[in-house]
Amino acid sequence: MQRKPEQLRSHRWFGAGDLRAFGHRSRAKQMGYAAADFAGKPVIAIVNTWSDLNPCHMHFRTRAEEVKRGVWQAGGFPVELPALSLGETYMKPSTMFYRNLLAMEVEELLRSNPVDGAVLLGGCDKTVPAMIMGATSMNLPALFLPAGPMLRGNYRGDVLGSGSDSWKYWAELRAGAITQADWEEVEEGIARSFGTCMTMGTASTMAAVVEVLGLTLPGASSIPAADSSHARLADACGRRIVDMVWADLKPRDVLSAASFDNAVTVAMALGGSTNAIIHLVAMAGRAGVDLPLARFDEISRRTPLLANLRPSGKYLMEDFYYAGGLRALLSRIPDLLDIGCHTVTGKSLAANIDGAKVHNEDVILPRNRPLKTEGGLAVLYGNLAPGGAVIKQSAMEEKFLKHTGPAVVFRDYNDMAARIDDPKLDVSEKSVLVLKNAGPLGGPGMPEWGMLPIPKKLLQKGVRDMVRISDARMSGTSYGSCVLHVAPESYVGGPLAFVEDGDPILLDVRARKLELQIPKEKLAARRAKWKAPPPRFVRGYGMLFANSASQADRGCDFNFLEGTAPTAEPEIH
Ligand code: FES
Repeated sequence: MQRKPEQLRSHRWFGAGDLRAFGHRSRAKQMGYAAADFAGKPVIAIVNTWSDLNPCHMHFRTRAEEVKRGVWQAGGFPVELPALSLGETYMKPSTMFYRNLLAMEVEELLRSNPVDGAVLLGGCDKTVPAMIMGATSMNLPALFLPAGPMLRGNYRGDVLGSGSDSWKYWAELRAGAITQADWEEVEEGIARSFGTCMTMGTASTMAAVVEVLGLTLPGASSIPAADSSHARLADACGRRIVDMVWADLKPRDVLSAASFDNAVTVAMALGGSTNAIIHLVAMAGRAGVDLPLARFDEISRRTPLLANLRPSGKYLMEDFYYAGGLRALLSRIPDLLDIGCHTVTGKSLAANIDGAKVHNEDVILPRNRPLKTEGGLAVLYGNLAPGGAVIKQSAMEEKFLKHTGPAVVFRDYNDMAARIDDPKLDVSEKSVLVLKNAGPLGGPGMPEWGMLPIPKKLLQKGVRDMVRISDARMSGTSYGSCVLHVAPESYVGGPLAFVEDGDPILLDVRARKLELQIPKEKLAARRAKWKAPPPRFVRGYGMLFANSASQADRGCDFNFLEGTAPTAEPEIH
């Protein structure tokens, strides 16, 4: 049903005949707008996470103008609202620490201002879930414009992938296999344009997930940032959001248990980032959908990995786009999806992928030739992770799928950094490296420390993978036999806190098991001796985070932000 101008939310600010509305209109005129520019028109917020310290979003100033162009064309009134830019590269201790802050900001920006709908400009890892979480909670018509992946990296004619090749060449440098000059050349060539990491890391995974949830225009998540199609996409977002406002099409009209299952399926078929698990759980929580970790495992077991993209496979996002992009991949698995789900186009997912074709079968593999028969991620349980842990089985050495080895324990990141390369460290390829105090509260913010470096003395012997366990996350561009997100975390007294050097640990990915193989009584005695650390924060945002963030298996959202309980609209006087 089409809404009328007087039914617009912004009408409460601009349409009334009182003194307050006079103030709102006169100040719009102060900004140079005539009544004809805004009166009776949908006000569209362009929420922009541009920043000078976010290289992935460098093009967002231009893209915001392109969105505005589309909004004007469609008869809306665009207003750009800057929001916290979670630049993955520079923010410490971790952008994850601030994801919920951006989610709160987006929700409250939309609530407190005279806006009827929003185009959300994000892309660098945590900006994606944060913006979706905030917009879902506010539930105004909204659509997401992903930043798009950067161009392929280049090093002497070889293709370089974000993150993955940094880790790879860093290991080669530490092993003495390349020179400092070679390493500097890699630095020059690995990030060649604006846009997000172009491997199937967290940014690429989350953009795809948001597209399949139905919150972007079709095909949006695969378009490289520097391609002129991306500018045209921005313009199209501007035009579409105005229609969405008139139709009152909101995020929670689109999001459902089925659409979240679709998102999990696609994350698996892509070999997506482990980070997607935490974010999807949190995003679902904002839409009132319960998404337990076990559901990821069920879906992973039935979903083939079809995207031959790094770090699980060979290619990069630019290749994926030329091969047909996400629409083409979805066209390979309609039987594994609920293609009747609604989307921001006003049409079903089925309509959005109609006619999609795969143009390169080596990049998007056929069903009878998957990269792996199962999805990329597995959820593990056991006495070491009663709340669950995850592993990216598609990006690890197969020999570690079942492995028992003695623990080499680091009490925190600094301890690990100080000792990992110590020639006297008692470690072998069979050891299991354990990092404690790197979880949601221990990190804090669950930094991406989960791909612990291989000790130098093992690197020099040619070792490139070994089993590692932590309550941290790892970058979606990372790889290796890394058990992550152990819940509950060690900082709050989860069993990881009680592991000691030499304890045998069993990892059995096929059986989904993670076990500390010591007698129950010994474990109980260590638990009884454990003392909680003193509070790390006594004021500020850190204290809010420490008091309110849930554990990894619940998505690390703030407990007071979960759910769909209504929040009152602001009074306007
Ligand atoms: Fe921004 Fe990877 S650093 S997406």
